Amino acid sequence: MNFLKWAVVPVAIFSILNFLFYYWLPSHYVFDKHVLQRLSQESIADHPDGNVTAIFYELQQKLSEEYGSDLINDFNTDDWFFNNAGGAMGQMFILHASITEYVIFFGTAVGTEGHSGVHFADDYFTILKGHQYAALPNQFERSEFSPGDQHHMPKGVRKQYGMEPESYAIELAQGWIPAMLPFGLLDLFTSTVDLQTLYETVWFTAKHMVKNLLYGKF
Ligand SMILES: *[C@@H]1O[C@H](CO)[C@@H](O)[C@H](O)[C@H]1NC(C)=O
Repeated sequence: MNFLKWAVVPVAIFSILNFLFYYWLPSHYVFDKHVLQRLSQESIADHPDGNVTAIFYELQQKLSEEYGSDLINDFNTDDWFFNNAGGAMGQMFILHASITEYVIFFGTAVGTEGHSGVHFADDYFTILKGHQYAALPNQFERSEFSPGDQHHMPKGVRKQYGMEPESYAIELAQGWIPAMLPFGLLDLFTSTVDLQTLYETVWFTAKHMVKNLLYGKF
């Protein structure tokens, strides 16, 4: 009986967050998945040699013009850091992080494979270079995503995914971003013990979330 009483608390919290996800969070979203895909496709088309550094620079520029330089961070090659999550390992750069949205460049020079995570957010993964593969537990032929394609992972959906070497994407997540952080951080404590990555992940994420809150972007 005591157990039942305590089980009510997480269920109640989840129900409230879930209600807000549908009826309140969308009013805070500023990014549009279709705009991100269109600007990605334009940037890819401008660099038929597949120079992904040049694609990053151009796409950042277009996003900054579309959404303002307050919301989109300047691009550089210093503020990249590793991410280990769900058995996969990648490299990432934060273009925007707030409580309800993030936009990042994510990819891998070496290639990777793992669990997508189960997220309290909708996720739109637009390929800039290379390929991403994904499958559900009852899917026997993999889905394949090529440059310009957008892979939508709705809230709560999880897949196995892989990225071939030198594959990069721009990822938009919309939902409860802080609820995604345990997935993004726990491998640091249980596996990699990479304190520099822990520092970089927490520093960059917190810095951009606080900055955006000060601008009034929740
Ligand atoms: C790729 O693009 C970057 C940024 O524009 C440039 O500095 C670099 O020289 C390019 N690399 C190649 C191989 O063209």
